[in-house]
Amino acid sequence: MHIETLAVHAGRRTDSATGAVVPPIYLSTTFERAPDGEYPHGFSYSREGNPNRRCLEECLAALEGGMEALAFSSGMAAANAIVQGLEPGDHIIAPDDVYFGLRRLIGEVFGKWRLEVSYIDMTDLNAVHAAVRPNTRLVWVETPSNPLLKITDLPAIAAIARRANAISVCDGTFATPVFQRPFEWGIDMVVHSTTKYIGGHSDVLGGALITRFQNYLFERARKSLHLGGAVPSPFDCWLVLRGVDTLPCRVRAQAESAGRIAAFLKSHPAAEAVHYPGLAGHPGHAVAARQMTGFGGMLSFELRGGRERAIEVAARVRVFTRATSLGGTHSLIEHRASVEGPSTRTPQNLPRISVGLENAEDLIGDLSQALG
Ligand SMILES: Cc1ncc(COP(=O)(O)O)c(C=O)c1O
Repeated sequence: MHIETLAVHAGRRTDSATGAVVPPIYLSTTFERAPDGEYPHGFSYSREGNPNRRCLEECLAALEGGMEALAFSSGMAAANAIVQGLEPGDHIIAPDDVYFGLRRLIGEVFGKWRLEVSYIDMTDLNAVHAAVRPNTRLVWVETPSNPLLKITDLPAIAAIARRANAISVCDGTFATPVFQRPFEWGIDMVVHSTTKYIGGHSDVLGGALITRFQNYLFERARKSLHLGGAVPSPFDCWLVLRGVDTLPCRVRAQAESAGRIAAFLKSHPAAEAVHYPGLAGHPGHAVAARQMTGFGGMLSFELRGGRERAIEVAARVRVFTRATSLGGTHSLIEHRASVEGPSTRTPQNLPRISVGLENAEDLIGDLSQALG
């Protein structure tokens, strides 16, 4: 079935008790045992499983074309559960511009775990290959990356990980399964911050881990979810799933506007560089065109005039909102280095944009007046 149909139907069924077309929210934390002590509906206690969570997990697995999904209380909770599955002394290969929260998690929470980590420019496949060690167990990819929109060649990375006997995980938050399905390129697991495009309305936190096949890191993540308890509430699951209904329509509209905004910025004398994989001059354009069916709604750009100029432009917008996060209906702009703090590697002259669902002409007009 096509993704638009899966987005509306996967994981849902008409409520057998009432005929409700939209799933009810099951707040009950506990479920009745049958006289023989069994749980005939498969639910015992909500930390272990809940009907709303199960609907969401089935839907996300179907959207990615995976075997199974786990829904978490945030994208970082999903990442945490994956890293927790590693043994002390294991080695991770991760992008040098990985979402800064993951770098902090590995350094500040897992520092005492004695994990080895190599942060590599994943666009340089020779460097990724050279980074492999006998103890490499996890190869983490984020494409397009946050905030530089770098593109990683998924089949090439999947092959390197396979040869190293490591599990490959792709953070697909920016791309969404509408534009990129990493399992089709041989990647083993996909992680999402469903807080972003999948939820789509900036009103719920969530995360997900989807696997293509049974493996020990997925099973350990399941244990971490069930025993550690970083579960999303039934209402959170309901909200994320409600967002999924419109996911294909939303992200296509956002990508169409992002393409127009990127072209506008590219031709503007104030912009030194524009990072959007849909632009023919983007270094990852050819790879993106091969492995994605659209280029997404995120872009960033670098301004002549440095940090002050970037902050000034972000201060002058009227339609865009100055806020972090992405993937919602409102267009957002942020001075990314300020968000990431003193240890940032992001260029100081870089505003990052999440394109919302406003009219593209209004957004271009707003940027035009802000650039002055
Ligand atoms: C690419 C990416 N991955 C993961 C996360 C973390 O997700 P969450 O904020 O839902 O924990 C974010 C958050 O901004 C992100 O941009």
